[in-house]
Amino acid sequence: MTRSNEWKIASTHMTDSTLSRVGSSTATTSRAHHDAIVSATRVGKRFETPRGPVDAVENVTLSFAPGSFNVIVGPSGCGKSTLLRMIAGLDTPTSGELVFGDVDGKSPTNALVFQGRSLFPWLNLRQNVAYGLRLQKLPRLDRNDRADELLHLVGLRAFGRSYPHQVSEGMRQRVAIARSLAVDPDILLMDEPFGALDEQTRLLLQEELLRIWEQTGKTVVFVTHSLDEALMLADTIYVMSAQPGAIRTVFEVPFARPREFTSVRSDPKFAELFTRTWDILRTEVNAARAQQEQEIAG
Ligand SMILES: Nc1ncnc2c1ncn2[C@@H]1O[C@H](COP(=O)(O)OP(=O)(O)OP(=O)(O)O)[C@@H](O)[C@H]1O
Ligand SMILES: [Mg+2]
Repeated sequence: MTRSNEWKIASTHMTDSTLSRVGSSTATTSRAHHDAIVSATRVGKRFETPRGPVDAVENVTLSFAPGSFNVIVGPSGCGKSTLLRMIAGLDTPTSGELVFGDVDGKSPTNALVFQGRSLFPWLNLRQNVAYGLRLQKLPRLDRNDRADELLHLVGLRAFGRSYPHQVSEGMRQRVAIARSLAVDPDILLMDEPFGALDEQTRLLLQEELLRIWEQTGKTVVFVTHSLDEALMLADTIYVMSAQPGAIRTVFEVPFARPREFTSVRSDPKFAELFTRTWDILRTEVNAARAQQEQEIAG
């Protein structure tokens, strides 16, 4: 696949599941960071708006190891989605440096999964999963086989011919995940993918995502507002500060893998880690609220 094709996929898909190969003037591939698949050094993003400049992200320094499961939490508006978009190559930092490690001598590819409504309603589930492969010009039989394998992986093999409106929201979100995996990205970027789901569906999908991650070995960067979810999924939790978002604290999550909800929840370390994380997050959420009230008053 040529670079121009890769960018075409990124731009056709800006608002839902996205494949792009990262690379831009500020995103470079370097062997100096060979241990990390992504490393950010003092990355910032300033938006120029009619009301003046908005610093969405400031001074973000972090690195993700290949194959790791990274979860980002932080108050609403602190820049989580902006950071993810920069890692996806859909936006560029206005300060600092974002460096990508190489995978088999190339810069890593990524796919971005959003919350809700990302499927094409006029395509059946199998065609939705195969969409990125069609853009990659894979022959029809091959892409159907691959789509069926992925539908099987997310437990929906029997629903390939159904249309998005004929299945539940949880099933649609599983299809969105299958679609992002179809293009075999090195980095899976997930922006509150389970945010709109009921709790039971969410718990099942968390376990399913962990199973898929364990099978595929992808690097995952996952944004959530739920600390329960963060503790269930992550190797490492990054707590962001109120806007402009920086990394406030990093927690390593010690639970053994493979993880199941019940064993994680009943582990005494769960309550302790939840409390420590929430203590930090609560300060940032309160700071974000105070900022918003000031903005409204001003
Ligand atoms: N394209 C843009 N132009 C101007 N400002 C923007 C743009 N995108 C985001 N922002 C601003 O940057 C800040 C961070 O936004 P972002 O969407 O990254 O936050 P978030 O942490 O994902 O929030 P949430 O948890 O509510 O999804 C916000 O103040 C937002 O208004
Ligand atoms: Mg967001």
